[in-house]
Amino acid sequence: MKLLNMDPRIGELAKRLAEADQAHLLQFWPELSPTEQNSLILDMEGMDFQEINGFFKSAMETTSCSKQEKMDTRMEPVPRDVLGSVTKDRDCLKAWERLGLECIAQNKVAVLLLAGGQGTRLGVSYPKGMYDVGLPSHKTLFQIQAERILKLQQLAEKEQKPKCCIPWYIMTSGRTMEATKDFFSRHDNFGLDKKNIVFFQQGMLPAMDYNGKIILESKGKLSMAPDGNGGLYRALGNQGIMDDLERRGIEFIHVYCVDNILVKVADPVFVGFCVEKEADCGAKVVEKTNPTEAVGVVCKVDGCYQVVEYSEITLATAQKRSPDGRLMFNAGNVANHFFSFSFLRDVVHKYEPQLQHHVAQKKIPYVDAKGQLISPDKPNGIKMEKFVFDIFQFSKKFVVYEVLREDEFSPLKNADRQDGKDTPTTARHALTSLHHRWVLNAGGHFIDENGRRVPAIPRDGAASSVSDDGKPNLKDGTDLPIKCEISPLVSYGGEGLEELVGGRDFRPTLIIDEDGVHELVKNGI
Ligand code: UTP
Repeated sequence: MKLLNMDPRIGELAKRLAEADQAHLLQFWPELSPTEQNSLILDMEGMDFQEINGFFKSAMETTSCSKQEKMDTRMEPVPRDVLGSVTKDRDCLKAWERLGLECIAQNKVAVLLLAGGQGTRLGVSYPKGMYDVGLPSHKTLFQIQAERILKLQQLAEKEQKPKCCIPWYIMTSGRTMEATKDFFSRHDNFGLDKKNIVFFQQGMLPAMDYNGKIILESKGKLSMAPDGNGGLYRALGNQGIMDDLERRGIEFIHVYCVDNILVKVADPVFVGFCVEKEADCGAKVVEKTNPTEAVGVVCKVDGCYQVVEYSEITLATAQKRSPDGRLMFNAGNVANHFFSFSFLRDVVHKYEPQLQHHVAQKKIPYVDAKGQLISPDKPNGIKMEKFVFDIFQFSKKFVVYEVLREDEFSPLKNADRQDGKDTPTTARHALTSLHHRWVLNAGGHFIDENGRRVPAIPRDGAASSVSDDGKPNLKDGTDLPIKCEISPLVSYGGEGLEELVGGRDFRPTLIIDEDGVHELVKNGI
């Protein structure tokens, strides 16, 4: 290919590409405008093609090995002595919460949000945290999380007196960074102090065909995607975040995903449990009750903790039950983790290079040799991703904390459709059902349009019941959950509501926020 009389940078780049067998990336160079040429050079200049080829090779090798071998014989369930449970350890919850609040009050706890995903299934063009699932308040996921942090700071201060802060580290990607920062600044950081919100960017990797050739999404643009939520560890190192955590004296870090509307950000009970157990790494899990649910389970493999995907075990193993009747491998992973600072530092500085990329086969739009844009109808290549839980294997003191799915886990993955799973509707219902239960627990009641009390235990299939896969059980429009929304600024986890609702009857929609308790007229929202 003739590349003479061109940008002086192109010679060196062309050489590197040829050496890495990726020279096809310049095949349309002569047809590109100067601006397109410049942006192609900028995109590729910082890329290490040999390293990318190496990632491809080892990811493909690992995948073909793991395809052949099921994990069953190497797996053991989580032993009881490292397991805490919100239902089985009721007597300990208060003490763990106190310890967690104490750590927060001493400014030892930070939260780390994984928000670099593309949200392809949800199908919106903006970052998922900006999504409004249609709550009465129309708060976005980012706002709900910010307000939970604010409230928790207040609760910790109340218990412990001095002013404290929970720094919020937000991982974005090339595709979500600008929009995320702009959204926070337009909303005045939702009341949080700007200096305690730190945005950083994860890496991107090119999509590749099955022969290891990088895919062009247009004549002058590589097909790029974020390198998975496990890209966190590399980003923490190369974006100076570990230094920032150290400078602030952070000892414990809570990591969570942007899409879980019920997430208890910096959950003091979980933090306290992990701290009391002197854990370096902890995973919050929900019970997997349906053997065929496609959720990864936390377990031991060859003596080390890891998450095993449903596809990696046989149905017979997935169906195995313990003497108590529960599934033997039931610790459903929800990507909600605790790390001690020293463990995270070791992961970032020592272990990260040992992590292998996982392979996701995808339909990746590409330009063919003639320059035509093709949208394939079956997978034609791979994206390479690391996962946040890939580092469990390095933990020396690993613990697991089981919580109730209906209280803590309802992810937003898909766009709304009839009977859809993990949609804006299921997320909205999960939150309003939770708040409904908070009101009942605090001694409040709901009445229907005829003034009759709505039974606290809903009819079969109605209101706040939740199915195995986390979807509210809704049979028809009459069984919709009671509309009730409580601002996180009023209550973090259901506390402090007795004096507001105790002994009172409410007609939905009920809203409790900083301005008080309001009932909205039926169909008013
Ligand atoms: P998912 O794997 O569900 O991906 O991410 P996603 O991007 O939200 O949605 P799809 O698969 O494109 O439809 C789980 C969590 O991990 C974060 C997401 O932002 C979400 O909080 N994530 C995912 C990252 O931070 N970086 C990534 O590269 C991928």
